[in-house]
Amino acid sequence: MDILLVGGGGREHALAWKMMQSPLADKLYWAPGNPGIPDAIPVAENTPEALAQFAQDHNIGLTMVGPEALLCEGIVDAFRKRGLRIVGPDKKAAQLEGSKAFAKDFMHRHGLPTADAAVFTDAPAALEYLRKHGAPIVVKADGLAAGKGVVVANDLATAEQAVKECFAGAFGAAGARVLLEDCLVGEEASILALCDGKTIKPLDSSQDHKRAYDGDQGPNTGGMGAYSPAPVVTPELWKIIDEQVLQRFLKGVQADGLDFRGVIYAGLMITAQGPKLLEFNVRFGDPETQAVLMRLDSDLVDALAATADGELERIELKWSPEPAVCVVMASKGYPGKYPKGLPIKGIAEAEKTGAVVFHAGTRLDNSGQLVTNGGRVLGVTAKGKTLREAVDNAYAGVQCITWDGVEYRTDIAHKAFEHQ
Ligand code: AMP
Ligand code: GLY
Repeated sequence: MDILLVGGGGREHALAWKMMQSPLADKLYWAPGNPGIPDAIPVAENTPEALAQFAQDHNIGLTMVGPEALLCEGIVDAFRKRGLRIVGPDKKAAQLEGSKAFAKDFMHRHGLPTADAAVFTDAPAALEYLRKHGAPIVVKADGLAAGKGVVVANDLATAEQAVKECFAGAFGAAGARVLLEDCLVGEEASILALCDGKTIKPLDSSQDHKRAYDGDQGPNTGGMGAYSPAPVVTPELWKIIDEQVLQRFLKGVQADGLDFRGVIYAGLMITAQGPKLLEFNVRFGDPETQAVLMRLDSDLVDALAATADGELERIELKWSPEPAVCVVMASKGYPGKYPKGLPIKGIAEAEKTGAVVFHAGTRLDNSGQLVTNGGRVLGVTAKGKTLREAVDNAYAGVQCITWDGVEYRTDIAHKAFEHQ
């Protein structure tokens, strides 16, 4: 079948890379795509209706959506209305990511473990609550804010400023409602799962690195690297996560009548009191997907098609025992302002080391030269017999690649070694 993949980042390159290994996959249409897969056919359509029309006109057998924005805009509804097969939650179910208040209410009603939070629609009430609650506290804009809408405030002044900025419109409509949430302490882990509304099947665990600099210092980013599996998720913890997070999620989806045939991402804090949900995403994580999919031995196209068709029960996901590591190479200045258009050298050499180089913010300039085109530029990913070997293999690839001002963390997976 021909496949339509929506999105153009590192996560989507990893999805494309894995899907094109399937004997079920023929042509790959990629909207908008990136230079990572030269054989993919670029698609310019970028709205739910236009993409659905494109899929219909081109007889697409399966559509996979990477980013959350189009899911929240109702791309799944647009496709299903036309009887087209697509993986993802519908617009209503996508609010599990699109509205933190909606997600919190879902978690509370269905008994999923999470921090307590209060929701506010005006600054004076929020500020009064803040003063009573005290710091530390977490301030969250309700809507989609590209990962920038969360402030973990260690003092009241920071929290007050975050509340004021939200209501002053720093995140537009996404900040019209604000959550004030208790601060949790622990190590984070990402659990991704396929869910078709009847069955839920987790992918293996992973861990992101949200801060820009080594030692988890500096500002939050979209993610500077990831590894899988995450040793913080022990077999005992997996049992608790399955019972208290995944199964309760499934029951909640059914009880609320949500149409969820897609990927659910549980962002967890592993606290002394057990796993607590920080957030839901209704899609694959970036860069977790790059590390996790490198370890998937089963057919991804079959698994995604089964998810869309409500046949997930028949799928068995098989995992390589070898750990995988993804190191994100970023532009100087990211997550703040950064330059674009700088020539990238050494990808072919990196690939010779056995690493897979996933493109994120790249483009070909007029002369056919690959240049930087975003904050997160590449995700260099490798497996190894041990995690140490996987880390070394990934960095061996990284070392081959350069451009003016390239930045990356040198300590991806450091928390895993602290467990050993
Ligand atoms: P979110 O978008 O809700 O996942 O928040 C982004 C990041 O903020 C998370 O990955 C955590 O590092 C941090 N965070 C969110 N909620 C909390 C919380 N309740 N306690 C401590 N840290 C949090
Ligand atoms: N890596 C975090 C996210 O995809 O939201």
